[in-house]
Amino acid sequence: MKKILFICFSLLLSGAVLAQDAKMEAFVSDLMSKMTLEEKIGQLNLVTFGEIQTGAVVSSGVDAKIRKGQVGGLFGSSSFKDIKGAQTLAVTNSRLKIPLLFGLDVIHGLKTTFPVPLGLASSWDLELIEKTARAAAAEASAVGVNWTFSPMVDIARDPRWGRIAEGNGEDPYLGSLIAGAMVKGYQGKDLAAPNTILACVKHYALYGAAEAGRDYNTVDMSRVQMHEFYLPPYRAAVEAGVATVMSSFNEVDGIPATGSHYLMTDLLRSTWGFKGFVVTDYTAINEMTMHGAGNLQEVSAKALKAGIDQDMVGEGFLTTLEKSLKEGKVSLSDIETACRRILEAKYKLGLFEDPFRYLDEKREKSEILSPENRKLAREAGARSMVLLKNEKQLLPLKKSGTIALVGPLADNLKDPMGTWFVAGDWNSAVTVRKGFENVLGNSVRVNYALGANISEDPMLLAQLDLTHTYVKKNPADLIAEAVDAAKKSDVVVAVLGESEAMSGEAASRSDIGIPENQKDLLKALVNTGKPVVLVLMNGRPLTLTWEAEHVPAILEAWAPGIEAGHAVADVLFGDYNPSGKITATFPRNVGQIPLYYNHKNTGRPYDGNLKDKYKSKYLDVVNEPLYPFGYGLSYTTFEYSDLKLSTSAPKGLTSVTASVTVKNTGKFAGGETVQLYISDPVASVNQPVKKLKGFEKIFLKPGESKEVRFTITPEQLKFIHSDLSWDWEGGEFVIHAGTNSAEVKSAVLNWEK
Ligand code: BGC
Repeated sequence: MKKILFICFSLLLSGAVLAQDAKMEAFVSDLMSKMTLEEKIGQLNLVTFGEIQTGAVVSSGVDAKIRKGQVGGLFGSSSFKDIKGAQTLAVTNSRLKIPLLFGLDVIHGLKTTFPVPLGLASSWDLELIEKTARAAAAEASAVGVNWTFSPMVDIARDPRWGRIAEGNGEDPYLGSLIAGAMVKGYQGKDLAAPNTILACVKHYALYGAAEAGRDYNTVDMSRVQMHEFYLPPYRAAVEAGVATVMSSFNEVDGIPATGSHYLMTDLLRSTWGFKGFVVTDYTAINEMTMHGAGNLQEVSAKALKAGIDQDMVGEGFLTTLEKSLKEGKVSLSDIETACRRILEAKYKLGLFEDPFRYLDEKREKSEILSPENRKLAREAGARSMVLLKNEKQLLPLKKSGTIALVGPLADNLKDPMGTWFVAGDWNSAVTVRKGFENVLGNSVRVNYALGANISEDPMLLAQLDLTHTYVKKNPADLIAEAVDAAKKSDVVVAVLGESEAMSGEAASRSDIGIPENQKDLLKALVNTGKPVVLVLMNGRPLTLTWEAEHVPAILEAWAPGIEAGHAVADVLFGDYNPSGKITATFPRNVGQIPLYYNHKNTGRPYDGNLKDKYKSKYLDVVNEPLYPFGYGLSYTTFEYSDLKLSTSAPKGLTSVTASVTVKNTGKFAGGETVQLYISDPVASVNQPVKKLKGFEKIFLKPGESKEVRFTITPEQLKFIHSDLSWDWEGGEFVIHAGTNSAEVKSAVLNWEK
């Protein structure tokens, strides 16, 4: 009976969806029948307000173009007034009064800035991540933004690449779950609701695999590699219903992604079933010329033919498509298909019913930077942090005595906001110094000193704007002041790392250590003999080999966002017991890169014997990372035992339960992310040593233990075959459960297909 009711309900629902689709189709067809060719091409044109600029050009003459119906959307502003002005212009002064889309890079919050995505991913907390996206959409929609260029789901194995900060790290399984959670957060259940917005998964595809970690660089990889490791998160976003996709700058298989029919049509639409529209990245069509794909007219035609619907900033579509149509290089139906997809997105947002639906002064006042959102930012900040080292339980610190608080990120409003804080209100951010004050009151005496600028490297200073913090003083004098503060204190907290502009777009680094002058400061502090707590703020894994050896406690705080200071204080003083786990491997040095946990075995794996010359290893550094994927400590300790399988000889399409007991063996209550990995030692395509296939977050009081159970089905055993089919093969599998990708308990099973 229940089943019948369910089927009836599903049929009714799909009937309603079909009726809605038919209504939309009729509306759009009617509108398009009134549109001129120029107006249709106009919808394919996305221009900028000019506030942010990440390419060589900005849009001009926007006002006149809106009047002529030559603009489909604008992006780059979070100003209520500007958005309202532009929408008013479109719906009163253009011939067909078609409303505009308003896009913005709302990457980790609008005004309430949450941690950078790599930080949020370290929480392994999908519910939390979805909530941050939900809050971001609510704030953005209040000022009229109805489209965010997020989530960024590019898998990255190279921390030299600055944009690793914007993604979720190196793992496709976790990355796919986060992609889905963010899409749900932004888009909600109903795109027409006034507080949900279009999401845009980017940068499709493989942008994170830029050679040598240099931004915009060439990408080249096998199809098996791309389908197994790099494409799943984009697909997961599509499956979660993402409304738009952004094409990437790089080439794939020798063809710029933006002009790749394989990516934009064969895979995205024909295989994955994507129904929304594809926008290019900033001037990506124009850049196809530099890649070697032809002049502007040729590349614009190629991009449209490939399946691109909207051209960001470059105006290749606007200026050449009419000519290409006359010359038979594109068809009217190519143009109309793209135009239809964009109009459908506007329809789904409800813009034809009410073009001002996403402009709500009341909500702007009540929801932006609301106490709830700030509370969420503080919680997200703390949950993102990863405790990398804690010798002799130096942390948590006592809320008494004297603390030296030093470093260029300790009393810094802007940099802890992280890359792409675009509209973030950094003047209302909480510095670590302020956070200490608010959390500690008068219970602790804080001796503050700057100690060092972010960097003294002339090449860096020539490219980055550090004027908001830079102090013109001899570096040795700055260090002397900090050492003086340290000597007068019981413990030192050094807040070091990167400025917000040292990671993110066009922020690749070949040396990913803490900048030299900050390292000099750290060494001087350690030399005082006082216990030193290193709090790191940065947007990428850093090389911390010296630090890991000499500094007793290290907390990776990432760029925590607007509530940085409170979140850091919550963790350092034990109000929140850290539970984050890194989602990108921390190498020992740059020479080890690319270094990632789900690597293949070689025919000559190194087995620990240095004398064994002909093994896959280095002469000067071990193969293992400094901190492996999934690693992160707690103030308490967890013990894993009794990994059990419900059967070790399953047959066919059944499932196996793997259970492991985790006990809190320390003195603090705390959270732990229990991770499940699977290895497939014999397969027709060589498999990585391990793949993440499940995880569960648990919370245990001191002395408490819990049995965590994972259900394993053949779905988790599937891999990409040489013909790109996704299937599993029977045989031996090793199931691992543990606290990170390197420390696991293992059990073997033989699964007959
Ligand atoms: C970036 C995108 C971003 C776009 C619009 C580009 O340079 O690569 O991630 O969404 O600019 O700001």
